[in-house]
Amino acid sequence: MDAGNTAIIDKIMSLKKAKNALFLVHNYQLGEVQDIADFAGDSLELSRKAATSDADVIVFCGVHFMAETAAILNPERTVLLPDLHSGCPMADMINADQLRELKKKHPKAKVVCYVNSTAEVKAESDICCTSANAVKIVETLKDAEEIIFVPDQYLGSYAAEQTGKEMILWPGYCPTHARILPSDIQKRKAENPNAVVIVHPECKVETRALADARLSTGQMAQFAQETDKKEIIVGTEIGLLHRLRKENPDKTFISATEQAICPRMKLITLETVLWSLENMENRITIPEEISIKAKNAVDRMLEVH
Ligand code: 13P
Ligand code: SF4
Repeated sequence: MDAGNTAIIDKIMSLKKAKNALFLVHNYQLGEVQDIADFAGDSLELSRKAATSDADVIVFCGVHFMAETAAILNPERTVLLPDLHSGCPMADMINADQLRELKKKHPKAKVVCYVNSTAEVKAESDICCTSANAVKIVETLKDAEEIIFVPDQYLGSYAAEQTGKEMILWPGYCPTHARILPSDIQKRKAENPNAVVIVHPECKVETRALADARLSTGQMAQFAQETDKKEIIVGTEIGLLHRLRKENPDKTFISATEQAICPRMKLITLETVLWSLENMENRITIPEEISIKAKNAVDRMLEVH
């Protein structure tokens, strides 16, 4: 913990106790925010924690769709997002009207929607997935005549490769992972010939092809603890390196590129967390008719192990 932050952290912790709040923090958040988490994890792990929470207030340190998912799973609890500008650009690459149009063209198709999507899009979908379980989720639909996968074309193509199931892919993408180029991986491999390479399945096909493993951020954290390799090249948003280094001081983590920064993930700070708890802002609420339908798609995902 940074000594300069002690006073603000003390204030946050006493308010947290008074309000019976739970801090759920995504692996890409600033290190100072990860360090005050009750739980830091990937999207699937955070959804599972949100589903079983008995806190009165969930402070979600991540991007908007993650707080929305927590609110979908906990309509009776207060879910706070410390900065409303922290939205995921990929989640906004498809809206409910566009998905309804696509469904009209493929009336028999089942719709798999990456959790990186709005509640309205989830409400139009049969089942959600995250990067940790996309392959498993698509496998549950092996008998479907057609499958629509939104909004991430790269996670969709990864699940299609792994399952052998062709899918109709929406052309969305993560601008941060799109910055991780095959040439970055090649350069890092040349500099660190003994290193193992792990990348996120949101990366482009050519980048993924150069990796030893394709993993969600939670799976990367597990891999880092279990591997015998001492040097690990990491192809994902650089915020994860804070956790990897903290949990594995004996290993060296090398980011595939310093360009892999998600600016929206960096908007939440200790100051905004404090403001959020003091003012009980910004409350994330979803209209009931959308929330109920979106919850079906999220619950179906959480039932798959
Ligand atoms: P995971 O942490 O679930 O791997 O997701 C990555 C991501 O980009 C979330 O926005
Ligand atoms: Fe969205 Fe990519 Fe940022 Fe994740 S890293 S929140 S997918 S833009």
